[in-house]
Amino acid sequence: MQRIFSGVQPTGNIHLGNYLGAFRNWVQLQDDYDTIYCIVDLHAMTVDYDPAQLEKSRIDTAKILLALGVDPDRSMLYTQSQVSGHTELAWILGTMAPMGVLSRMTQFKEKTATGAASNLGLYSYPVLMAADILLHRAHLVPVGDDQRQHIEVTRDLAERFNNKFGDIFPVPDGYVPKTSARVMSLTEPTSKMSKSDQSPKSRIALLDNPDVIRKRIRSAVTDSDPEVRYDPETKPGISNLLEIMSSCTGSKVDSLVAEYGSSGYGVFKDAVADAVIAELAPIKARYDDLKSDDVRDVLSAGGHKARESADGYMKEVRRVTGITGY
Ligand code: TYM
Repeated sequence: MQRIFSGVQPTGNIHLGNYLGAFRNWVQLQDDYDTIYCIVDLHAMTVDYDPAQLEKSRIDTAKILLALGVDPDRSMLYTQSQVSGHTELAWILGTMAPMGVLSRMTQFKEKTATGAASNLGLYSYPVLMAADILLHRAHLVPVGDDQRQHIEVTRDLAERFNNKFGDIFPVPDGYVPKTSARVMSLTEPTSKMSKSDQSPKSRIALLDNPDVIRKRIRSAVTDSDPEVRYDPETKPGISNLLEIMSSCTGSKVDSLVAEYGSSGYGVFKDAVADAVIAELAPIKARYDDLKSDDVRDVLSAGGHKARESADGYMKEVRRVTGITGY
């Protein structure tokens, strides 16, 4: 059976983009693959953070994933800091990662441009991400469009490693949805919807209540031409809402355009809000029923399984790289 691995940073504000771009695939892929999902708390340390908040966000993120359908009976769900193989393999891969490649990473450039203190962890972030994926020898990585560059680095490092030490790692592929691979901000529809945007109006949080969701969509930035038409270049706001509605209803963008083309933005936005509310309401209901202690138990069991599996694989990595312990 082919293996899936993916991760999410526990940085709070999990939003509709995370869900439509990645998590929905995480849930669907459980039917046909061996699935491993990880809350990557070590990655979240690469920007300024509060330790007490990190624990809260870790549990909260796990709760959201369970509520939206990650099933611990079918998937391994754990946190990165539970399994030391992530950092050990990151060191090994780091010895093969060209500085030039890391310096070109869009995410590093964007984060440092917006004022995050540049540090070694932030710089080598893609190497830790490659280690996450390769540690479990995953074949497919369900992510949104913004992670494509990191998947390329992972493929490159897997190939470098295999060339030097033998055929150890599958060279993994990204798995990106056809619609909503890049859900855009509601206030600035030429930028992606992001957890770190200062403005809560820019996103729909997965746990927002229906009134907030409707308000956010009604106030989404669009344009002054009244036609509902898909054209990301000239109508990024409306095109974003069309993609969101298409993903939530399963209707094709073309048929939504046929239905709402001349209905006016007010009617269209209300229809988008209805679709998003219908998609998110069951998640919020399940989230409210989950208890933090039960979620901790799930992570503890998942971490135990992930450690056992990773330790076995790391033995082979240590042997081929010549760092076998005594
Ligand atoms: P993170 O925590 O930023 O986001 C989690 C997932 O959500 C996707 N995503 C989006 N998809 C569509 N539209 C958006 N606006 C949007 N914003 C975020 C992301 O692509 C991601 O799939 N580096 C990763 C975490 C990570 C990881 C890994 C992922 C660490 N190790 C190994 C896969 C495999 C990140 O920061 O995701």
